[in-house]
Amino acid sequence: AAVRTRHVGRNVRRRVGRGRRAYHVGAVHEATGELAGFTSASKTTGNPEHLLQGMTVVAAAHRGHGLGLVLKLANLAHVREYEPRVRLIETANADDNRPMIALNEAMGFVPQERFVSWEAPVAPAV
Ligand SMILES: CC(C)(COP(=O)(O)OP(=O)(O)OC[C@H]1O[C@@H](n2cnc3c(N)ncnc32)[C@H](O)[C@@H]1OP(=O)(O)O)[C@@H](O)C(=O)NCCC(=O)NCCS
Repeated sequence: AAVRTRHVGRNVRRRVGRGRRAYHVGAVHEATGELAGFTSASKTTGNPEHLLQGMTVVAAAHRGHGLGLVLKLANLAHVREYEPRVRLIETANADDNRPMIALNEAMGFVPQERFVSWEAPVAPAV
């Protein structure tokens, strides 16, 4: 949990350093003190209507209880309090990620565009 928390902290500092504002909600499992789930949304300071919904993760041991949806809705309530001009939320996920697609559909997200990324291995140059 300590390592994960440090990673989250670094990521937040990097993003804020690039001039974005970021909002997060985490859920702590009280019995163990472990971070059970986390979600993050961010926006540029120059475009008040546009929010980017970033990564949402629920630890494997805590999946299947709708925690991802609760985290995202709680975080959006938080965003709307501080960013009342937000009108559009953009997010992206792999098209085989059924758990996250189901969650996004439940929130009212609709597909906007699809893209394919290609990758090929490159042998080390040295
Ligand atoms: C997407 C995610 C946050 C959803 O977690 P969650 O809120 O606990 O999901 P739900 O409670 O809605 O689960 C619904 C069902 O899907 C199942 N499920 C959830 N995540 C699953 C996964 N990664 N693989 C297989 N099944 C999964 C649950 O067991 C549950 O099954 P049930 O209906 O038979 O009970 C979680 O799967 C996750 O952290 N995935 C890895 C990170 C990720 O892909 N994030 C999104 C990147 S864009």
